[in-house]
Amino acid sequence: MDLSNPTRHIAVYQRRRAALLAQMQAAGGGIAVIETAPELHRNADSEFPYRFDSNFYYLTGFSEPGAALVLIAGDGSRTAPQSILFCREKNEEREIWDGYRHGPVAARELFGFTAAHDIESFETKLKELMANQPTVWALMGAGLDGRIAKGIELLRERSRNGQLAPTSLRDLAPLLGEMRLIKDAHELAIMREAGRISAAAHVRAMRACKPGLREYHLEAELLYEFRRQGAESPAYTSIVGTGANSCILHYRAGNTEIRNGDVVLIDAGCELHGYASDITRTFPANGKFTGEQKAIYELVLAAQEASIAAVRSGRRFSDYHEASVRTLTDGLIQLKLLEGSVDGAIESLAYRRFYMHGAGHWLGLDVHDAGEYMDVNAPYNSEAPEAKRRARRLLAPGMVVTVEPGLYIRPAKDVPEGFWNIGVRIEDDIVVTETGHENLTRGVPVTVAEIEALMRS
Ligand code: GLY
Ligand code: MN
Ligand code: MN
Repeated sequence: MDLSNPTRHIAVYQRRRAALLAQMQAAGGGIAVIETAPELHRNADSEFPYRFDSNFYYLTGFSEPGAALVLIAGDGSRTAPQSILFCREKNEEREIWDGYRHGPVAARELFGFTAAHDIESFETKLKELMANQPTVWALMGAGLDGRIAKGIELLRERSRNGQLAPTSLRDLAPLLGEMRLIKDAHELAIMREAGRISAAAHVRAMRACKPGLREYHLEAELLYEFRRQGAESPAYTSIVGTGANSCILHYRAGNTEIRNGDVVLIDAGCELHGYASDITRTFPANGKFTGEQKAIYELVLAAQEASIAAVRSGRRFSDYHEASVRTLTDGLIQLKLLEGSVDGAIESLAYRRFYMHGAGHWLGLDVHDAGEYMDVNAPYNSEAPEAKRRARRLLAPGMVVTVEPGLYIRPAKDVPEGFWNIGVRIEDDIVVTETGHENLTRGVPVTVAEIEALMRS
């Protein structure tokens, strides 16, 4: 199955559009407008590498810039739902400089739209298409508001011709968020492959590591493997942090030299056919963990195992974070890095000195993917601590999460020196299944013995 070419899978995208149209129709109908991302200027006459908008791509499979999708729900009987693409016209001169454009005629045919038009006609046609529609659906805050407002204003001026302007504006984000949260078979097939490539890249970087190299050398190994295996790019800026840098959560690979006795933390994943993977591994620069590094590492691994066990259909999204907090807090007390009882250190949030982030997030087209984390039907309690004001939602088959507990130990008078500058995070990508879960990223070693064996080889 060639997953790299969306035109071989147009039924996948047509099914998603039909599902969204059915929901719009059930909610009273209307017209939806979704633009792809703009091209971004970098400097002089250079652009940043182009990346389409995730919602637009999810519904179209169309990756060219300068495109928009319009969906019209129809009334369910007399008028059929429509799915209309706006894209750039063919242009021989521009295609010589910038590359192939499908143009509306070929795009309509190959991607299976009801109709397709030149993007140059978007504003004019949008106004016509909005006439007599009760509701405009858009991604609020996505920058379309101005053009929609202009179209509505023009329609109001013409209402004497019988063209009524829409009277309600509704947000598409919750509908698309819910859809994107549950991955279909097509998405899971791509995400499995993305996980496999990213795992291979981590193995390559671990094998290449030795004291004296610099962080960017390992970043280059990751990138080499991503591209060698056909991934478009990293899904986010790769983190390669050694020594004290392993304790900086949003560090990027820099030029720090990797020193004997330090740990190296790599958080990196490729983007394949638009889908992110997200793996973190931590290993000793010289291939052999010190006693303190091993103690912290095995504690984080135990926390990750406890968390992964809580990733099951019917459990709450918050359960796996809470499992990691309990395991880490218990271990920190045993290592004498925290004092008091486990319940006391959880209650007082004392563990946050060493574990200050959540245990994971949704993963998909975006590395921090779309979809609500809360149970929107649960009561809101403004008196509760921030994270507990509303219950988190239940996990269900098809959701994909990362599980990424960590401990970050910075130099401090009350911490024995052997623990200083040990930052450890272990992150894998987990699919919730009917009966449990599937780990997409175990192609890269995770136990102390496996990592030491790989680095010896
Ligand atoms: N690398 C981004 C994250 O782990 O959430
Ligand atoms: Mn990550
Ligand atoms: Mn992550």
